[in-house]
Amino acid sequence: MTNRSRNLLLFVTVFIHLVLSKVVSSSDCTLFNDVLQYTYDFTTLSASSVSVQADQDKEKIRFRLCSPLKQMCNGHDGYCVCLSKDDKEIGIGKFPPSLKYENGTSQFIYSGDPCQPGRNYTVHVIMKCDYAAVQTSPEIIPQGPDQCVIHMIWRTNLACARSNKHSCIYVDEFNNTYDLSSLTSLSDNHVVHIDDKTEMMINVCHTTIHEHGATCYGAPAACLKNSTDPNNVDYINYGELMYPSSLTMKDGKLQIKYDNGYLCQDKRTVLTTHQTTIYFICDPSASPDREAEYDPESGPCHYKFTWKTRAACNATRLREYRSANASKCTIVDPTTKWEYKLQSLMNQDFIVNASSSKQYKFRICGPLQNSRCAKETGICDAQNFTSAGNANANLMWQHGGPYLNYTDGAACGNGQRRYTLIAFVCGAEGSSDAPVVLKDEPCSLIIHWYTDRVCKRRILCATAKNETNLLPLIRSSKNYVIKAMGKEFHINICRPMAPTPNIVCPHGSAVCQTVRDSRGQYTNETSLGFPDQNPVLDGDENVILNYYRGSPCPEHPEKNISSSFKFFCDYNGDEGLPQYKNYSNCHYIFEWRTNIVCSTVMGEWVAPCTIKDASHPRELDLSLLYEKPIKPEVVSNKEKNWSINICGGKDHCNGSAICQGTNGYGTDLNVRFNYRTNVISLKYSNGTKCNNKPYESELLLICSNTSGIGKPALSLDANCMASFKWLTNIACAGGGYNAATTPVAAITETPSADNLKNYGSAQTWIVTISVLVVLVIGLWLCMRNSQRCGRLRSRIEAITSSRNHSRVQYSRVNTTEEARLLLDTSDPHTLDEQIDSDDELLGV
Ligand SMILES: *[C@@H]1O[C@H](CO)[C@@H](O)[C@H](O)[C@H]1NC(C)=O
Ligand SMILES: *[C@@H]1O[C@H](CO)[C@@H](O)[C@H](O)[C@H]1NC(C)=O
Ligand SMILES: *[C@@H]1O[C@H](CO)[C@@H](O)[C@H](O)[C@H]1NC(C)=O
Ligand SMILES: *[C@@H]1O[C@H](CO)[C@@H](O)[C@H](O)[C@H]1NC(C)=O
Ligand SMILES: *[C@@H]1O[C@H](CO)[C@@H](O)[C@H](O)[C@H]1NC(C)=O
Ligand SMILES: *[C@@H]1O[C@H](CO)[C@@H](O)[C@H](O)[C@H]1NC(C)=O
Ligand SMILES: *[C@@H]1O[C@H](CO)[C@@H](O)[C@H](O)[C@H]1NC(C)=O
Ligand SMILES: *[C@@H]1O[C@H](CO)[C@@H](O)[C@H](O)[C@H]1NC(C)=O
Ligand SMILES: *[C@@H]1O[C@H](CO)[C@@H](O)[C@H](O)[C@H]1NC(C)=O
Ligand SMILES: *[C@@H]1O[C@H](CO)[C@@H](O)[C@H](O)[C@H]1NC(C)=O
Ligand SMILES: *[C@@H]1O[C@H](CO)[C@@H](O)[C@H](O)[C@H]1NC(C)=O
Repeated sequence: MTNRSRNLLLFVTVFIHLVLSKVVSSSDCTLFNDVLQYTYDFTTLSASSVSVQADQDKEKIRFRLCSPLKQMCNGHDGYCVCLSKDDKEIGIGKFPPSLKYENGTSQFIYSGDPCQPGRNYTVHVIMKCDYAAVQTSPEIIPQGPDQCVIHMIWRTNLACARSNKHSCIYVDEFNNTYDLSSLTSLSDNHVVHIDDKTEMMINVCHTTIHEHGATCYGAPAACLKNSTDPNNVDYINYGELMYPSSLTMKDGKLQIKYDNGYLCQDKRTVLTTHQTTIYFICDPSASPDREAEYDPESGPCHYKFTWKTRAACNATRLREYRSANASKCTIVDPTTKWEYKLQSLMNQDFIVNASSSKQYKFRICGPLQNSRCAKETGICDAQNFTSAGNANANLMWQHGGPYLNYTDGAACGNGQRRYTLIAFVCGAEGSSDAPVVLKDEPCSLIIHWYTDRVCKRRILCATAKNETNLLPLIRSSKNYVIKAMGKEFHINICRPMAPTPNIVCPHGSAVCQTVRDSRGQYTNETSLGFPDQNPVLDGDENVILNYYRGSPCPEHPEKNISSSFKFFCDYNGDEGLPQYKNYSNCHYIFEWRTNIVCSTVMGEWVAPCTIKDASHPRELDLSLLYEKPIKPEVVSNKEKNWSINICGGKDHCNGSAICQGTNGYGTDLNVRFNYRTNVISLKYSNGTKCNNKPYESELLLICSNTSGIGKPALSLDANCMASFKWLTNIACAGGGYNAATTPVAAITETPSADNLKNYGSAQTWIVTISVLVVLVIGLWLCMRNSQRCGRLRSRIEAITSSRNHSRVQYSRVNTTEEARLLLDTSDPHTLDEQIDSDDELLGV
């Protein structure tokens, strides 16, 4: 194509685009904030629809902010919000929305179809200011009991008013550089509580976020909320940024002063303006999320705050601190050489319950402050204020993780003194990150703390080539408990056992064997090993998981106890439970029958057209097997034609996916994934009657990387049943599979301005000219009939928008067909599918 024709095409397209955008229904997507004299413009968020994951797994929402969805909802146009649920669509929000600006927040409100008698669905979309959120999508706010009202929140910088900011870097006279920008918040204000009724919203080197709960006039960097009168909450501008900078150093103190807030009358009844000063105090040990504190010396017109932070320390001070703490509260695992640091837990009080009536208060790697226990106490009995051990920062190492031993607590008899072990464990994913008392005895206290802070590397829990994994068997809160030979085994898979009060095995053990004494108390706890190694396949393709380095073996004290779990596939079983098998030579053997290790696993059907593997995080969209629009595939032999439409739902053949004449080949579906052979089998049963029994069928989706989408073929036509195979790349791992665990929060089709540039290299002259003709006719039609105009615009919009949809390729439509469809407004169903062809036609 020559440049000239390309330019002409571009010109015509852009021209039509501009002309039509004035005509088409699209509500105003702007809101005026008269407090700030600012107009929020959300138009760019409405360029295309987004899909939002609803709070229930099987629900999805299609959403477009201020224009109707391009694709119909439940067979009708004119919706902005469409909920898909169990194969059904509900229009829960109609175009146009009403826009509201209330309490500093922009909201879009849609009303939809009836929900309950006399009530319609309502959707509220709250636009939340976040200066850092540029390209985002809305999220559902989990539903309250009212099913008819749906709330979404959309974090975006477009919901932010104008902001002021200045540099957050200060260089002092000794050439020390301080950077406070880590304290600048772009999405939520820092809130300092002053008393029950008042709180101050502040930001650092940046204006506060103007939103619900912080609606001061002007451009404050400190905004006071006074709720003394709950019916009339008052907001007071307590100072704005000073230029060139509010950041100074005075009397050796780094500080920020915001000035020129509202007028204020101080005690001497002098009229001044409200001011705020924040003093930043160097504290190398302060945690990064530490907030400012109110200074009660503040006067009514001038509020003062102190903020302890690392950011206010000079480099010398930080270096000193690091070297002084180098050996403190850290430990290196001598085997892996990994360093474990727990300094982030220092300088905070923790409270742990030992029983309903007994609590301990403790600190990590340092003594308690202001405690009624003796000065050096690291852990204090909160009832009688006796020490359960003196603090130290001498973190120690055991195979299962780092631990502290606080010794020299209160006397506990026999000339002994109390000690406390605090052990840290990298537990299963989802363990409660909190200390747990496992044993509280007169002379010793044992606390285990399961925390991700000590997780350097968890084993994958999968065999070497990922043929199978045992992840579904991992327990995060309750162990598997089995009894055998008068003993109890507390078991987890691939992870340390979950913490269990009164059972103390070496921390980090995967299996703990214990005995109950005559009073029912656990005794003689013995570790059967640690979860250090991934499961392996043995010759018979069974899966074996080994645990080593358990407690010393009673018969051979120089040896450590080990254990192994052998997993057998049980197709008809569930996850199953472990069984004790035997013990010999310091080694315990357990067996486990489960469907988890079967190479074939059951799948499930998820409407509208997805299959999901029940045990692996995988799902496959079967509509990818079809070109769009979906038309049944027809397979024939000499006598019969079968039409196959997996995604047909109730519309195809009375619910059967496979149909021959009026014979339905089955409505009930059984899905199996075979990962060894990469075959997915879909078995349909309970079809229409065929000689006293129902028709049945089987469709095998066979992985073939070279087949593309492929086509089904008949492999067997037997009495009352038929079998088909379909070689396709969709069935190959990676071909159309989604990891279902990826949060599919929202998929945005982003329009790109670059697309206009990409019009070059189109196919042929004929295509170009045809399209030009079509566009010109379209323009002419449009001037005569505005409804057609709207449709035409949608198409043009699609042309000028996204080229990077992650969709399968659709085959090309020939040009006359193209022209017909483009002008035919009688069948809106084809609209969106057609848009893809438009894309295809013009782009490449
Ligand atoms: C605005 O604030 C009032 C009073 O606090 C409250 O009743 C109302 O629900 C708020 N509106 C919104 C949209 O948050
Ligand atoms: C609910 O929507 C229907 C049409 O969808 C409309 O006729 C009706 O007035 C609405 N009801 C309410 C309470 O808004
Ligand atoms: C760094 O700060 C400390 C106090 O935090 C101060 O004593 C020291 O003099 C400062 N060093 C330099 C080089 O400014
Ligand atoms: C500890 O016990 C107190 C009082 O019995 C209770 O209020 C608190 O919720 C308990 N804490 C935990 C973490 O269980
Ligand atoms: C902790 O210290 C106590 C008292 O010194 C000692 O008896 C105990 O063995 C130590 N425990 C560990 C695991 O280091
Ligand atoms: C616990 O272990 C000790 C020493 O190994 C042994 O003497 C005792 O019998 C064991 N108790 C039980 C209940 O097995
Ligand atoms: C047994 O376990 C201990 C503690 O983990 C370890 O120090 C020792 O080397 C192990 N012994 C053998 C023979 O593996
Ligand atoms: C225990 O298991 C081992 C290994 O499977 C086997 O060789 C041995 O015969 C078993 N012993 C008993 C008593 O079942
Ligand atoms: C199968 O369909 C084809 C094409 O629609 C048709 O020509 C043929 O007659 C059909 N065969 C039978 C047996 O119905
Ligand atoms: C659906 O069922 C009805 C009645 O059972 C039957 O008349 C019709 O032919 C069936 N449709 C198809 C496509 O099989
Ligand atoms: C088979 O389908 C019929 C209706 O098509 C239904 O009533 C029946 O429950 C189904 N049977 C089974 C076993 O699913």
